[in-house]
Amino acid sequence: MLGKKVCIVGLGYVGLPLLCLSMEKGYKTYGLDISNERVEMINNGVSPIKDKFLEQRLKKLNAEATTDSSVLKKSDIIIICVPTPIDAQYNPNLKPLQGVARTVSKELKKNDLVVIESTVFPGTTEEIVRPILEESGFLSSEGLKQAADFYGSITSSDILELNSVKAAEATKIMENTFRDVNIAFVNEMAKSFDMMGIDITEVIKGASTKPFAFMPHWPGCGVGGHCIKVDPYYLISKAKENGFTHRFLNLAREINNSMPHYTVNKVVEGLNEIDKSVKDTKITVLGLAYKGGVDDTRESPALEIIDELKKLGADLRVFDPYIPEKSTVKNLDEALNSECIVIAADHPEFKSIKPEKIKEKGIKVVIDGKNCLDKQGIKALGIIYKGIGR
Ligand SMILES: NC(=O)c1ccc[n+]([C@@H]2O[C@H](COP(=O)([O-])OP(=O)(O)OC[C@H]3O[C@@H](n4cnc5c(N)ncnc54)[C@H](O)[C@@H]3O)[C@@H](O)[C@H]2O)c1
Repeated sequence: MLGKKVCIVGLGYVGLPLLCLSMEKGYKTYGLDISNERVEMINNGVSPIKDKFLEQRLKKLNAEATTDSSVLKKSDIIIICVPTPIDAQYNPNLKPLQGVARTVSKELKKNDLVVIESTVFPGTTEEIVRPILEESGFLSSEGLKQAADFYGSITSSDILELNSVKAAEATKIMENTFRDVNIAFVNEMAKSFDMMGIDITEVIKGASTKPFAFMPHWPGCGVGGHCIKVDPYYLISKAKENGFTHRFLNLAREINNSMPHYTVNKVVEGLNEIDKSVKDTKITVLGLAYKGGVDDTRESPALEIIDELKKLGADLRVFDPYIPEKSTVKNLDEALNSECIVIAADHPEFKSIKPEKIKEKGIKVVIDGKNCLDKQGIKALGIIYKGIGR
């Protein structure tokens, strides 16, 4: 395999680490992207994604990125990592993938290996990409062997060769759908337990003592990111085309999509308890990212929470230490000058906020969308605390 030239198409969260890995393993590797800005940063050794590990590697590697698709001609292995989003009606949008396939088909040589790393619904490779690349005899068992050899040479993980491309495509979707469904389950339990005054975090800890079969998932103010909130729709849409309606998956999406609104309702309830309304009350949303420790806001529930609070007329502040450019205050201390705080991402900087600090700042209501603060400590100081199912 070594000696072959690799081209990674789409240099984002998936493509960029892959570019680094492939170079580190000794492959001559090119990066191809449509964003001039991204390409320029990468060529200057700067990571467009905030990630310490990636930043260090790019500084050292002298990566070669370009927007010029003629680089495909020089490559033997082409790995496609472009986005596969959904539109406003939750339908798959395969335009970036189809566009890349058309570009690739113009430059393909005999025996080139093309891999789709983008998440797609079962059938995409054979029914949508294959016709575009058909002239080159793209899909073959020889391709599977080459792909297994290549990935075997860059990772230490076991490589499992499945019997069909469709099964491989479905695998990735099933992994993410499993998470979506399980998170929806705990979110529903959280809503139910809220009505009964039961703390779900205790229940999950209790259930986790079962030595087999139980796998803890945690409720929260909503799921986000490019995978869990998107991939199930790819399967839902493809199954519908084939005459099957996914009731369970649709319900999971519905429940998880309801969580940002549920969190805002907690703000309303909390403020009601001190005879206040959202309108004109100083409220701070802590966290814009969809999960802790990252600067990724794609599909983040925080954005929906912020929108709804704005619509209700809140005197709003927003702070995320990983995304200062979108924060409205400079630091956490300033962010805590509020009557109500809403935790929307479990960044380590937020998890370590002490009840005493909350008291000192005069905060009256705490809405913990990630169940990550010291509930007992906060309540003991006479501050209203509301988690999700907690
Ligand atoms: N983020 C994850 O953890 C993850 C994990 C597994 C799979 N995936 C899947 O991988 C794919 C890529 O995800 P991502 O998170 O890296 O996306 P991303 O948005 O971070 O990166 C995509 C990159 O592709 C570039 N691009 C868009 N259209 C292009 C085109 N026509 N030609 C060349 N470049 C183009 C963009 O400029 C961007 O740099 C998606 O299908 C996603 O579902 C993502």
